[in-house]
Amino acid sequence: MEKTLNVTVLGAGTVGSQVVRLITEKHDELAARSGARIRINAVVVRDVNAPRDFAIDPALLTTDAEAAIDEADLVIELIGGIEPAFTFVKRALSRGATVITGNKALLAQHGPELYELTAANDTDLYYEAAVAGAVPIVYGLRESLAGDTVNRVIGIVNGTTNFILDQMHTTGASYAEALAEAQRLGFAEADPSADVDGLDAAAKCALMASLAFHSRVSMSDVAVEGITAITAKDMDEAARSGHAIKLLAIAERRTDDSGVEGIGVRVHPTLVPLTHPLATVSGAFNAVVLECESAGRLMFYGQGAGGAPTASAVLGDLVAGASHKVRGGHAPRESRYAELPILDAGTAQTRYQMRLRVEDRAGVLSEVAGIFARHGVSILSVAQKETEDGQKANIVLSTHTAREADLEAVADALNKSNAVLAVESTLRVEGDR
Ligand code: HSE
Repeated sequence: MEKTLNVTVLGAGTVGSQVVRLITEKHDELAARSGARIRINAVVVRDVNAPRDFAIDPALLTTDAEAAIDEADLVIELIGGIEPAFTFVKRALSRGATVITGNKALLAQHGPELYELTAANDTDLYYEAAVAGAVPIVYGLRESLAGDTVNRVIGIVNGTTNFILDQMHTTGASYAEALAEAQRLGFAEADPSADVDGLDAAAKCALMASLAFHSRVSMSDVAVEGITAITAKDMDEAARSGHAIKLLAIAERRTDDSGVEGIGVRVHPTLVPLTHPLATVSGAFNAVVLECESAGRLMFYGQGAGGAPTASAVLGDLVAGASHKVRGGHAPRESRYAELPILDAGTAQTRYQMRLRVEDRAGVLSEVAGIFARHGVSILSVAQKETEDGQKANIVLSTHTAREADLEAVADALNKSNAVLAVESTLRVEGDR
């Protein structure tokens, strides 16, 4: 006879409802796979009468999180945000319960305290659902590649922004129109800022970097730029030069100007050649490419959000966590022995494409080129188009690999130059080397 384990589910929103459904419907398979009967002792919600995607047994619904957690062997946290999730997760870990969470913001801000609490209480903390929904990237980094050296993680880890950018790319929609469509279809929240400002991707970037480089990386270490300034004109220009624009999360092992080895972490809209696998990731899908010393290049691809796909990741953690409860063993603990420093974002190196509006007169191009030269940034190509009135011109310049700080200095100097009317956009280019 299998042991019975009590599981408390905190939150019954899009993902929580699907988790409860799957635990109910797959009860026998989960028991066979984990060696334990999974019994939901409570589903903690703010309002027991709120409408739900799945009709949860009313007897399970409660607002009393403390009482539910105190009875639980495993706690699944799907509330999101910092509080009250942080307090509940700490309570569960302190009592020795295994915690399974999809809360990237919580882990990217307070991970160290939670990892220490997990170890001190000899329990487990799982978070597959926190990064890229159903895509098993946490398992890949934490377990499958634990013996390899990961050099670079580069991916699309926010479905909402990928949907918006894809919509702009394929239909010519403006940012505002694409965002409205994403909201209409339920991909984007009424307040979309966590997604469109890049914060959700930054939290995921920090989690992947911590795992990949065996170091502590928090959300505040990530240099973040969202997609709100991307225009239909940027999209046109990207298409003309054979690129898509993607919001990329990039975590890399690199050296800074003085040769110190460390970690670079950044999230920004990026030009990706149409021939690169990340350029083909459409709609709300996610994909992450890992560059590893021995394994070489690996790509993970799939549904990064949504009820059932994210619940799949939670259920995988549930089987592992329940199995450890009955058969012994533990999830991998935090690995931070490498203690690599976080490098200044200004020392990052990439290629750039810049769009300028300039006066169309003799000497302008040479002045612009001189500014690049003075800051040590080498130009790869220049294309100029006259505007309709013939008095002004649009210039698109792309650079060889350059330091971020040098490119910023170039943009600054261009903005101050009389020849330049506006630096209309500066986009980084990745995936072409
Ligand atoms: N809002 C996220 C996305 C999913 O659009 O990918 C949860 O992190």
